[in-house]
Amino acid sequence: MFKSLLSFFKGDKKGDKPTEKPAEIKRPIVKQYSPIQVNLKKGETYYYCTCGKSSKQPFCDGSHEGTQFKPMAFTAEKDEAAYLCACKQTKNPPYCDGSHKKAIVAQKAPIAVELKKGETYYYCTCGRSSNQPFCNGAHEGTTFKPMAFTAEKDETAYLCACKQTKNPPYCDGSHKNL
Ligand code: FES
Ligand code: FES
Ligand code: FES
Repeated sequence: MFKSLLSFFKGDKKGDKPTEKPAEIKRPIVKQYSPIQVNLKKGETYYYCTCGKSSKQPFCDGSHEGTQFKPMAFTAEKDEAAYLCACKQTKNPPYCDGSHKKAIVAQKAPIAVELKKGETYYYCTCGRSSNQPFCNGAHEGTTFKPMAFTAEKDETAYLCACKQTKNPPYCDGSHKNL
């Protein structure tokens, strides 16, 4: 059931490949892992893109239609050069709060996987893969890289999905502190 990244990319199991253009996006699309500088004008209202689909980042162009996302209206309190979030993971929208550099918590519990002795696996460190706990290439454009490891024996292992463990790829209980 669980496979290494190589077999994943070979597409040896239909339906496992991430869809490039999902009909309905559940997570915002990441246009880039850095903020976009804009010059805001005092008293002007802006519509910040929350879905990430807009081609007029960081602002809405109506592309959220059909998704569960809505643009976020905000009015500038002063003339300023602001850094608006383009990764759509900020906790302080529309502003960048540095979240583009952090791993995403895929879930607050480990994932049990059956490892096969001698097989190499690629553990997702960024939390963005939809094939948790393994990498599916979604780290592209971030500072994260998958972590390769080879199973020393056949075993059921509990791999970290919260991405806070100090002992990757294994769960060390850190998810309980989230
Ligand atoms: S660009 Fe999103 S938090 Fe920085
Ligand atoms: S799932 Fe990350 S430490 Fe347990
Ligand atoms: S998708 Fe997370 S490290 Fe590759």
